[in-house]
Amino acid sequence: MQATRTRAPAPVRAPEAHRPVAVTGIQASGRPHLGNYLGMIRPALALAGEHEPFFFIADAHALTTTRDGAAMRRHTHELAAAWLALGVDPRRMALYRQSDLPEVYELTWVLACHAGKGLLNRAHAYKAATEANRAAGRPADQGIHAGLFAYPLLMAADILVLGAEVVPVGRDQKQHVEIAREVAAAFNAAHGPVLVPPRVRIDERVATIPGLDGRKMSKSYGNTLPIFAEPDELRALVARIVTDSRPPHEPKDPDSCRLFALYRHLAQPAQVAAMRARYLEGGLAYREVKEELVELLDAAFGPARVAYQALLADPAELDRVLAAGASRARERAAVVMARVRDATGLRAASAPPEAVPLS
Ligand code: TRP
Repeated sequence: MQATRTRAPAPVRAPEAHRPVAVTGIQASGRPHLGNYLGMIRPALALAGEHEPFFFIADAHALTTTRDGAAMRRHTHELAAAWLALGVDPRRMALYRQSDLPEVYELTWVLACHAGKGLLNRAHAYKAATEANRAAGRPADQGIHAGLFAYPLLMAADILVLGAEVVPVGRDQKQHVEIAREVAAAFNAAHGPVLVPPRVRIDERVATIPGLDGRKMSKSYGNTLPIFAEPDELRALVARIVTDSRPPHEPKDPDSCRLFALYRHLAQPAQVAAMRARYLEGGLAYREVKEELVELLDAAFGPARVAYQALLADPAELDRVLAAGASRARERAAVVMARVRDATGLRAASAPPEAVPLS
């Protein structure tokens, strides 16, 4: 099939042509921020042509920290609206809610029976939580529930249930994708080549976006720039970014400046070069950089913010888009789960495996 394809000009792909599946999710725990966008959403959208894209809102993952059902539902709609406003075309890309795929929960248990407990002991989030307890003189597992421990297995199931080959994520998720690979290998070692080992895809240029306090931009640090905030809120947040105390006339170091670190991801290369020169020359006030940063944010996300607000105003339409995405994802998941059940004996031997091809 590949061999007979003509070389040029590249035709518009037939919808049934095989493309490797790319999948990525974003946790439903707050408004989307600049780190989410640059580190994950933008690179994920860029993969959409060459790959068959599946994007989802990880509400089940958010359950590790959220206890407010109404907030969970609101965040799910906010993220769905964000994906759509930022470029997801639901005719070509599946956008869905993780919890609309029961196959994910089912596969999580099967994976739990194949993954070493030690593998999960080493996962960063769990390790950090136990280390914080130890440092405070508390029992290592105090206040940590099993969902946090099993988080990487749920994420492995998200990926493996679709037979996804590529997972675009920020650098902080690299270990999770490696765990998914290891778990797939452990399953396959026992049952033959059933699960596809995924590869991580990290956009190294934007691997870590600094937050307002200079640490990695993250909801858990409360240091984010929400991309759809109104300009007034953005201005107030940018005002909080700490700089050194050099007065305007002194030359400044762009490479150690948090403002510049954000600026260079939003501005055009020529603007970045000009700004670098202004830092080095002296005569630049940090206040001016802050103003320009707010302008760049507003220029980059203002139009999408309008679209986002309109989408959020119609939750029934968002639910319809999510339901359509979920049924596409479930078609694939059903095929993978049929194979998993056959391989493990979690179905009667008389039931013939589905003969539906994945590609
Ligand atoms: N854990 C990811 C994060 O916090 C979100 C996520 C859940 C995810 N499942 C996934 C990302 C599967 C990629 C693939 O950012």
